[in-house]
Amino acid sequence: MVRVPAKINLALAVGDVRVDGYHELTTVFHAVDLYDEVTIRPSGSWSVRAGGVPGVPTTRSNLALKAAMALHAHLVRRGRRPGEVSIEIDKKIPVAGGMAGGSADAAAALVGCAALWDADLSRDDLIGIAAGIGSDVPFALTGGTALGTGRGEVVSPVLTRMTLTWVLAMAGSGLSTPEVFAECDRLRAGVDDSALSVPRADADAMVAALRSGDVDEVGAALANDLQPAAFSLYPKLRRTVRAGVDAGAVAGVVSGSGPTVALLCRDLPQASDVAAAMSSSGTCEGVRVASGPAHGARLIGGSLR
Ligand code: C5P
Repeated sequence: MVRVPAKINLALAVGDVRVDGYHELTTVFHAVDLYDEVTIRPSGSWSVRAGGVPGVPTTRSNLALKAAMALHAHLVRRGRRPGEVSIEIDKKIPVAGGMAGGSADAAAALVGCAALWDADLSRDDLIGIAAGIGSDVPFALTGGTALGTGRGEVVSPVLTRMTLTWVLAMAGSGLSTPEVFAECDRLRAGVDDSALSVPRADADAMVAALRSGDVDEVGAALANDLQPAAFSLYPKLRRTVRAGVDAGAVAGVVSGSGPTVALLCRDLPQASDVAAAMSSSGTCEGVRVASGPAHGARLIGGSLR
């Protein structure tokens, strides 16, 4: 079984649209201890299931299955003949929640299949295949706290001793990542950037804040350029962030493309208070206390050679 973490973006700066349609990003990824568990078994055919959780495809559009098949194709090109697999996902990361749950499952499938097939891959090979599946998949392999550049797929660790405590406020329905990026473009085309309701995210400021060890500095640097777009598509989220701050959180931000809201807290006792207040606030559907950084996709009960 492979355990793989959810991520939040501590800072997410969205740049220009590239010729390939992706946006240039500079982001600080942060893995939190909310995990999906993915089990890979040899099988006579390809399959994937997630216990019927709504919104998780059971077809070849499922990122975990795509990842397994991409690794399979890679090994076939090297003259290997690995067998097909069934993939079972125990889903805890919210679906379409802005926490890269689908990407996490893809990373887990890569780690699990590499072990099952004795793939003998370098970390760079694995990360290369991961990047081909999705922009957030390489980070799900590495975990921790990391700077992401390119379209998010170029990951380098950020050294920090800080442990951050979060309350995650989950929404009742999801947001589509491509739609949120498109809304970001639409808003930016219509108004001067400075008119948007949040400051432009600054990954360097976040890295400096993490090095300072000061939770208030981290709170001040918490920013997401996709947040105005997420607010525009999901107006209730403004109230979610406000309710979190009113409940005493240091700061709150929409996670990635949303709609999960991440509320930074000083410590676990305060997070429990904020979680209780959020549960009765009527501004979200589910609440979870989490902390980070968490490890990346990891085989449990075995080791990957
Ligand atoms: O890389 P991934 O497939 O996860 O991205 C999903 C979608 O999010 C892309 O198709 C694109 O619409 C948008 N995206 C983007 N720029 C990025 C990452 C994602 O526009 N850097």
